[in-house]
Amino acid sequence: MKVAVLGASTSKFGELWSLSPRVLLKEVVTEALNSSHLKLGEIDAIFVGNMLSGILGGQEHLGAFVAEELGVTIPAFKIEGACASGGLAVHAGVTSILSTLYKKVLVVGIEKMTDHKPEDTTSALMGAGSDEERTSGATFPSLYALIARAHMEKYGTTEEQMAQVSVKNHYHASLNGKAQFTFPITVDQVLKSPLIASPLKLLDCSPVSDGAAAIVLSSENEITQKIKPVWITASALATDTLGLAQRKDLTSLSSAQKAAQKAYKQSGLKPEDIDVAEVHDCFSIAEIIAMEDLGFFPRGLAAKNIALGKTRLGNKLVVNTSGGLKASGHPVGATGVKQIVEITNQLRGVAGKKQVKDAQIGLTHNVGGTGATAVIHILRN
Ligand code: COA
Repeated sequence: MKVAVLGASTSKFGELWSLSPRVLLKEVVTEALNSSHLKLGEIDAIFVGNMLSGILGGQEHLGAFVAEELGVTIPAFKIEGACASGGLAVHAGVTSILSTLYKKVLVVGIEKMTDHKPEDTTSALMGAGSDEERTSGATFPSLYALIARAHMEKYGTTEEQMAQVSVKNHYHASLNGKAQFTFPITVDQVLKSPLIASPLKLLDCSPVSDGAAAIVLSSENEITQKIKPVWITASALATDTLGLAQRKDLTSLSSAQKAAQKAYKQSGLKPEDIDVAEVHDCFSIAEIIAMEDLGFFPRGLAAKNIALGKTRLGNKLVVNTSGGLKASGHPVGATGVKQIVEITNQLRGVAGKKQVKDAQIGLTHNVGGTGATAVIHILRN
């Protein structure tokens, strides 16, 4: 598979109270088009990743909303898959090009979460869970806390090791001017931060965020000499039960494992070929499990290796150079698109202070809910 990423842009993530969705959209689309050397008139279709705009903002029909804002009348789609909405929108854009129906498409991810009461945002996010989880009052921090307890029980994973994930991601975010939190933290600060859902503390959790990201995709046949593309060489997804109670095992996400296997097969690449990855660390335990599901470390050994600093900048495999969801922020519908933006910048060598030396192959791992959807992309030069 070969689909070109020609342009990529992300807004700053964070509490962006003064920026409306329209302003955020305009910013990232303009920048993505400029970096692709294309004009809006050359785009055949728009795919928009978003989860909460209807329930929180009262605005549905987001495909037409984005087309209207850009002043075009081309086909436009909203794609929803909880926190994997952005990754799903990228997958939809990629498959539309592979179908040959469209030649050049724009993929946008956008979410505004912080303009609302925290309890409303938390309830809206639970739309991604099972009805049983919702009616029993579960929240995503509490569901990932159950996953963390299962992993601790089976593999001896410790709270200190989970804290190391956040410490690494805050360090990477301190090199990323577009991250929500650009301050470094220590293990002690994580362990002493307020308890959210035992064993997860405030600094084990991704925050509630606003933000947008956009990419321009093109079919291989449309490439001109103006720009050297980064290639999407695998785009794979898999699903699982919405609820945790229906799963046999809580210590891995079978959707992520299946999607990763498909992606490695599509690309002909192996876990050891990956130089840089953006993974879905919505909670610190999620990054540990992602490392195991993606085959980067054997089961039960990821926490130890992360704690040893094996996935920090300067190593063979670097994970979450943007700061991940934890520190870069997690505007849910934008996250999967932002992950592609970060890997594209890494492979182009324009990632600034957080640049991974000579990065040639990158991977993104975007998860919806507690793993009911998982989307994996592999990109290469
Ligand atoms: N990491 C670091 N700092 C955080 C933070 C986080 N995850 N979340 C909030 N903060 C900071 C705020 O910036 C604020 O700092 P300030 O006092 O210096 O301004 C302070 O902590 C309190 O913020 P507040 O918004 O009142 O926190 P909260 O208690 O309402 O929310 C969580 C904290 C963890 C419950 C919330 O961020 C959350 O729900 N996260 C998970 C989101 C989620 O489930 N996403 C989907 C994943 S599947």
